[in-house]
Amino acid sequence: MDFILRAQDLHLSFHGIQALAGVSFDLSPHEILGIIGPNGAGKTSVLNCINGFYHPQHGRIVYAGQEISFWPPHRRAQLGIARTFQNIALYPGMTVLDNIMTGRVIRMRAGVLACSVYAGPAHREHVTQRAIVEDIIDFLEIEEARHHRVADLPYGLQKKVELGRALAMEPRLLILDEPMAGMSLDEKMDMARYILELKEVRHLPMILIEHDMGVVMDLCDRIVVMDYGKVIAEGPPVSVQRNPDVIRAYIGQEVGTTQG
Ligand SMILES: Nc1ncnc2c1ncn2[C@@H]1O[C@H](COP(=O)(O)OP(=O)(O)O)[C@@H](O)[C@H]1O
Ligand SMILES: [Mg+2]
Repeated sequence: MDFILRAQDLHLSFHGIQALAGVSFDLSPHEILGIIGPNGAGKTSVLNCINGFYHPQHGRIVYAGQEISFWPPHRRAQLGIARTFQNIALYPGMTVLDNIMTGRVIRMRAGVLACSVYAGPAHREHVTQRAIVEDIIDFLEIEEARHHRVADLPYGLQKKVELGRALAMEPRLLILDEPMAGMSLDEKMDMARYILELKEVRHLPMILIEHDMGVVMDLCDRIVVMDYGKVIAEGPPVSVQRNPDVIRAYIGQEVGTTQG
């Protein structure tokens, strides 16, 4: 398979607690890969290994043809790996616009300091950056909130702002950790629409952790199922849905057997 990202045999422990016990999967260049599994299965830890917050004790991350296992997060971000977080990680006291602007920092030529020193080029740079951010605000349809403090926004809107900041990084791989957690049905449908558009119009490969099975089945091309730090199943949504190991991991009981 042609792949943009390969996670290979990832092992990760925290003081004797094994979060990952040999996780491997590939992501192809135009797909949405879902990672599902019970709480504590190791899903977020996998994402942290991909973006560089965690370094696995064993195993490799290969991205766009190079091994990045030991690269720090900012270098991976410069390569185009952008993510959102399970627990929103925005600057609550800053406006929507400024929060999304922080995503631009890794792409700025002049740098933040230079902006305040040199009026000419820095001003032009600021105008360019601002235009990119305004495009993202248009795309996400959050024009009305752009001067509002993030802390004053409803939760669903904050999740959109987080997606906006990730998009401001000009991602070539987007990693979404429970982007719809805590959302209403309408907000989820809204978010699903943006995710599909990012896939179909911008051909952006994505890894999506999500608990809502309906959402996962609708959006994902392929699904990796994790339990206790391992991949227990992998495949297209329909086959994963029917896999007895998956059903067992999720509801803690066998379905479709005649035992007992
Ligand atoms: N920074 C950390 N320090 C200690 N334990 C951690 C840390 N991150 C994750 N873990 C542990 O690793 C396991 C997997 O966690 P996580 O990857 O967050 O699972 P999931 O996202 O599937 O719910 C859990 O037992 C969790 O407590
Ligand atoms: Mg998690």
